[in-house]
Amino acid sequence: MAEFTLPQNSKITKGEQINAANGASRTKTFKVYRWNPDDEDNPRLDEYTIDLNKCGPMVLDALIHIKDDVDQSLTFRRSCREGICGSCAMNIDGTNTLACTKAIDDVSGDVKITPLPHMPVVKDLVPDLNHVYAQYTSIEPWLKTDSPAPGRERLQTDVDSTLLNGADGNGPAGCILCFCCSTSCPSYWWNGDRFLGPAILLQAYRWIADSRDEATGERLDALEDPFRLYRCHTIMNCTNTCPKGLNPAKAIAEIKKLMAMRR
Ligand code: SF4
Ligand code: SF4
Ligand code: FES
Repeated sequence: MAEFTLPQNSKITKGEQINAANGASRTKTFKVYRWNPDDEDNPRLDEYTIDLNKCGPMVLDALIHIKDDVDQSLTFRRSCREGICGSCAMNIDGTNTLACTKAIDDVSGDVKITPLPHMPVVKDLVPDLNHVYAQYTSIEPWLKTDSPAPGRERLQTDVDSTLLNGADGNGPAGCILCFCCSTSCPSYWWNGDRFLGPAILLQAYRWIADSRDEATGERLDALEDPFRLYRCHTIMNCTNTCPKGLNPAKAIAEIKKLMAMRR
């Protein structure tokens, strides 16, 4: 029988326990993944107990409080604090999501925080996104046209723009490239070197579905490959985890449908 085990130097060890709550009445413990490329140590889970009255209501508020007031060595990405930039994506309580829109109160008990799964880690909660951004570049995410530029913007009908924005506002144009979906996809875990994964395929569909784009055939040609597109087996983790309520699995199904229709 096959046995799967982590290499010794990847096993997560017990870290430090830091009580910064100072006897407060409303406290919470955050168990945070720590790994520093500058030492030889295994990753560890540090436990920070904090006073919830000293931070805002979201998990990102707690991380910012820990970094500002408890442990300045903690490293994570964040920018907008509004669920717009996608940079605070991490695994919280077992689900990939945005730390800035995840309420602390939504987690019962201790809050376990680890980086997005199956990505190389730069440090602590920061995943290395170089590969996935190279994949993003490969789909040429910009408007491609051959016809002469009109004297004003290229306009769309309401129906055409609804394909991008979604009737409910959750169309592919709403993607913030947080990669919660790709890092929840088992096919992407195993074949991420060649499978583009749900985030990039949803982005590819965003340009395929754009009525102003004139490179649809070329874009479909580039995806006609056993790995780039067809490693999706409709497991649906991607759609279930998207913190913006988008549906990458449906976008992938639409691309497959267009492929089948042109055969
Ligand atoms: S539907 Fe496809 S892309 Fe989404 S999680 Fe499943 S296999 Fe991955
Ligand atoms: S589809 Fe959703 S989960 Fe995936 S990258 Fe876009 S916003 Fe993030
Ligand atoms: S900080 Fe921008 S999405 Fe969370």
